[in-house]
Amino acid sequence: MRVSKTLIAVGLGAAIAATSFAQAADKVTIGFSQIGAESEWRTANTNDVKAAAEALGIDLKFSDAQQKQENQIKAIRTFIAQKVDLIGFVPIVETGWDNILREAKRAGIPVMIMDRDLKVSDDSLYVAKIGTDSVAEGRKQFAWMDEYITKIDRKPRNGGDKINVVILEGTVGASAAVGRSKGFNEALEASPNKDRYNILASQTGDFTRAKGKEVMESFLKSYGNDIDVLISQNDDMALGAIQAIEAAGLKPAQDIIIIGADAVKGMFQAMIDGKANATIECNPLQGKLFFETALKIINGGQPDQKVVYVDEGVFSAEDAAEVFPTRKY
Ligand code: AHR
Repeated sequence: MRVSKTLIAVGLGAAIAATSFAQAADKVTIGFSQIGAESEWRTANTNDVKAAAEALGIDLKFSDAQQKQENQIKAIRTFIAQKVDLIGFVPIVETGWDNILREAKRAGIPVMIMDRDLKVSDDSLYVAKIGTDSVAEGRKQFAWMDEYITKIDRKPRNGGDKINVVILEGTVGASAAVGRSKGFNEALEASPNKDRYNILASQTGDFTRAKGKEVMESFLKSYGNDIDVLISQNDDMALGAIQAIEAAGLKPAQDIIIIGADAVKGMFQAMIDGKANATIECNPLQGKLFFETALKIINGGQPDQKVVYVDEGVFSAEDAAEVFPTRKY
């Protein structure tokens, strides 16, 4: 019998002490499928997952899907065959998970989601999600832009009557991209300042620096002096875009206002260097809460809430230098 089952026998209430988790963890095996290593954020998330599992004494079977959903499905199937105690994964895209999650359910293995959301026909196919609220992040991107444009009384660079915006979207079908677009568009539609903006172009840069640079180059070729604002759905794409903007002889953060998402150190450095204006935090430090919840579930308990969002802030160039030393990723 596993230690975890012994713990159930001694009675697990709603509040199980963290020390009990640590004891139970000695015998617990968790399979975890990560998306890949597409961004600075993802590396921080992976490091945090591994460190949190180690701190709790969990036997972590970690698999890197190299940006492919089929690899995640294969990894989950392997975890089922290995009879792990719980499966965790970051869904690279929202859809296409029903069959494999049914296999896990039939095998009696609970599944938890980290970071991104998914859409399944039956919500009981996963027991809990620890992650971020991408719709809120998109809303915050619009709010920051709108306040800043008002504050500096920014006029369109081309002398026209609209502030022209280009958007670098994340991976197609990923909740982090879908949600941020939804939040941004909803906030734009609801804004009394809606009419002062024109969305010139919106295209995926797949959450990578290289693609962000490439797509920004094509935006600059097509729209050159019209672009006033870049909304980037993550910081890595923004950092790639900054290279393209400088190569085009323009000043990032001045000629083109740059707003990212994630709040990684690279973006803080860009803000300190005067090359970016703001970033909306997407907090990758989800491992501790994730594994504590997992242990609770393995021990027969219930998560306090099915979906928990981690805390997230908003940071701008004005406070970047002061905040930078406190950043953990
Ligand atoms: O799902 C979170 C997103 O995925 C982050 O914004 C991005 O950097 C990562 O790759």
